[in-house]
Amino acid sequence: MTAAISQRAIAVDAVGLSARCIPAAPCDLVVGGLVKRFGEATVLDGVGLSVPRGQSVALIGSNGAGKSTMLRCCLRLIEPDEGELNLLGQNIRALRSGALRQLRRRIGFVFQKHNLVPRNSALTNVLHGAIARTRSPRLWHQALASRQSREEAMACLDMVGLADLAERRADRLSGGQSQRVAIARTLMQRPAIVMADEPAASLDPVAAEEVMALLFGLMKKQGLTLIYTSHNLRHAIDYADRVVGLRGGRIAFDAASAGQDAASLEAVYG
Ligand SMILES: Nc1ncnc2c1ncn2[C@@H]1O[C@H](COP(=O)(O)OP(=O)(O)OP(=O)(O)O)[C@@H](O)[C@H]1O
Ligand SMILES: [Mg+2]
Repeated sequence: MTAAISQRAIAVDAVGLSARCIPAAPCDLVVGGLVKRFGEATVLDGVGLSVPRGQSVALIGSNGAGKSTMLRCCLRLIEPDEGELNLLGQNIRALRSGALRQLRRRIGFVFQKHNLVPRNSALTNVLHGAIARTRSPRLWHQALASRQSREEAMACLDMVGLADLAERRADRLSGGQSQRVAIARTLMQRPAIVMADEPAASLDPVAAEEVMALLFGLMKKQGLTLIYTSHNLRHAIDYADRVVGLRGGRIAFDAASAGQDAASLEAVYG
């Protein structure tokens, strides 16, 4: 760890649990000693991170540092090899398939590629967020067709500033508009936490800025926890409360974003 990092970074204890949970704010995510290996390669080597409710965390690090792997492990989309994983108060490693699916419904996931259904309208794509929160496939039709759902979907589109494009087909939206629809779809899911893997990476600088400001602003407004990965250090500083850097499978940096500059974060890439 460089001097710049060690001065600014917050201490991480031996098992990797950073002392970040304050009594007033329960932790939505507690990761301790997380290990993930792919064959011979240990990608996550005892990672610890505790995220209080409502906090926005930017996860940074070089290509291949394990950022996406970490997000995926947190939802058990990839099975971790070792460690503690507590999500929304539940030990996610102990959950069986039904309970796991139920817990995942409460997590919004925004990807670099928005994965909209191209031939569907923006509104219908947002409505699909209601499916994600609906327990039984028997209730999907109701979730999609009810007037209440449509009104909620319109409200979500309005929140991302796209109410006037509700009927436009997704394949006729720009990249920035598509990502905003994807965010609206996530809001429609009524998530407790949002995880986003490079949500602005495929957008031009102006659209990227807009999407990050929107995502951060909406999460703050709703008091939701946000954990996202980014290679844009300016975004990590401006649109997160806290920046966490992964290097060599471990947390190399963990500090409040306030007062940071890009140069101090660049050390994570050293
Ligand atoms: N399913 C997999 N099988 C084998 N190796 C994998 C698998 N998924 C990821 N890896 C490896 O794990 C390492 C971490 O990958 P990961 O995608 O988590 O990195 P990242 O920090 O998200 O990188 P980037 O910034 O490029 O998105 C890489 O070396 C990658 O090749
Ligand atoms: Mg990645």
